Amino acid sequence: MAKLIKGDCLDYMKQIPDNSIDLILTDPPYNIAQYSTGNIELPGREALNNNIADWDNAPLEPKDFIDDFKRIIKPDGNIFVFTSYNLIGKWHSVFDSEFDTFQFFIWHKTNPAPKIYKNGFLNSCEMIICMWNKGHKWNFTKQNEMHNFFESPICMYPERLREPKHPAQKPVKLLKHIINIASNPDDIVFDPFMGVGSTGVACMELGRRFVGCEIDKVYFNAAKKRISAYG
Ligand SMILES: C[S@@+](CC[C@H](N)C(=O)[O-])C[C@H]1O[C@@H](n2cnc3c(N)ncnc32)[C@H](O)[C@@H]1O
Repeated sequence: MAKLIKGDCLDYMKQIPDNSIDLILTDPPYNIAQYSTGNIELPGREALNNNIADWDNAPLEPKDFIDDFKRIIKPDGNIFVFTSYNLIGKWHSVFDSEFDTFQFFIWHKTNPAPKIYKNGFLNSCEMIICMWNKGHKWNFTKQNEMHNFFESPICMYPERLREPKHPAQKPVKLLKHIINIASNPDDIVFDPFMGVGSTGVACMELGRRFVGCEIDKVYFNAAKKRISAYG
């Protein structure tokens, strides 16, 4: 089962009943475009997109999400939110005191964009903050499989959509890893910023129910097409 909403998640969340979501897994804008020095021209190749996208420019305020996230998540639910170095302090200052646990998880990208001028580190890690309360559901497997670290390539063709191209499309393999640990079959997973629906695809493949929201019509339609392919 998938329920897809085209609209602003801040509005839509008001309609979600209390204590009804097992896992919030989402990838909101990082607001990093403001630090970009522009796209990087490469001789004979497509320029590297360093400007992310217009949707990244709208300021994201974690304080706008705390009340609804707390209200809709079940007492044994989990919350995973992708974020970046510039916003983690804000997420921490709003969310840490509201949950028993606030941790972070790292996605290490094995094929990040190269650093053409060799003047700094490659941006090969993304941060995912995770929150829960005591008694939360948690499918711990083996010690060596439960590091707060996961390695995979960035989303590549054919998984990566060519039309529309979403600059932040996440790999389904990474999302499935998180969903397997933090929820059970038939659970309801909510992604308020679903983009082209990668969390939804992961849910369909793992037998979870999915609720997804996306404000952009083109991305929404792409998500709908991908997710509805699962029937
Ligand atoms: C980082 S992307 C998510 C990409 C997604 N993880 C994927 O794999 O396709 C964030 C998305 O949030 C959407 N967005 C931004 N503000 C929104 C809002 N207020 N409500 C719903 N969607 C929003 C953007 O259009 C963008 O597609």
